[in-house]
Amino acid sequence: MSEELNCCVEMNGPTLDANYWNSQYISNTTGWDLGMPSPALVDIIDSIENKHLRILIPGCGNAYEAEYLLNAGFTDITLIDISAELVKKLQERFAENANIQVILGDFFELEGQFDLILEQTFFCAIQPFMREKYVHKMRGLLAENGMLAGLLFNRIFDKQGPPFGGSADEYNKLFADNGLKMVELKNCLNSVAPRANSEVFFKAIKINGDFESKNPCCKI
Ligand SMILES: C[S@@+](CC[C@H](N)C(=O)[O-])C[C@H]1O[C@@H](n2cnc3c(N)ncnc32)[C@H](O)[C@@H]1O
Repeated sequence: MSEELNCCVEMNGPTLDANYWNSQYISNTTGWDLGMPSPALVDIIDSIENKHLRILIPGCGNAYEAEYLLNAGFTDITLIDISAELVKKLQERFAENANIQVILGDFFELEGQFDLILEQTFFCAIQPFMREKYVHKMRGLLAENGMLAGLLFNRIFDKQGPPFGGSADEYNKLFADNGLKMVELKNCLNSVAPRANSEVFFKAIKINGDFESKNPCCKI
């Protein structure tokens, strides 16, 4: 992300819909793009033995992590992004590869079950009022023993988002209240330089038992 971490062109309360994100890709105002897989996500990927896990990357952007997964031999990768401009290019790029599926669509409408979901600057790209819905949706998409893992900003931004910031304490509560348990949440030690000391690395799993019946709003 360039580097005052401005994800996007400045606007006053933009509607963060498909048109908005598409226009960022068309005008090349993609300051969040690292141009390489995120080192922290690479560490997660390198730690996985089972190459057949069902892996989802929502709001995948230019899909450097997906490329890394493919090169590492993973066989079941799903990408979803709401920008038609981006997805068209990704679908062309991965057309010959049966191990990856690229979906044009809204994450909040996605159906499926995944063993691992990778988070990287997707959470910070959605409006904060959508955060509960984000956690509910992640919970619904996770298989029984699935895991959501990745990076979240641990800072507040001066300017109108995206990116929208937050804090580790806030995320802990948000996730627990909405059916996911943080099993790891710590300062990220291998952030890219412009994000140093401003990200937390996390792993979250489903809170089991009768969470849904006690919390009916969590049914997606
Ligand atoms: C800040 S960018 C991050 C892209 C990528 N994760 C990265 O780190 O380079 C946010 C991405 O989420 C996508 N996005 C935003 N809202 C979405 C939604 N509701 N469903 C799917 N993708 C969405 C945008 O099109 C954009 O590619």
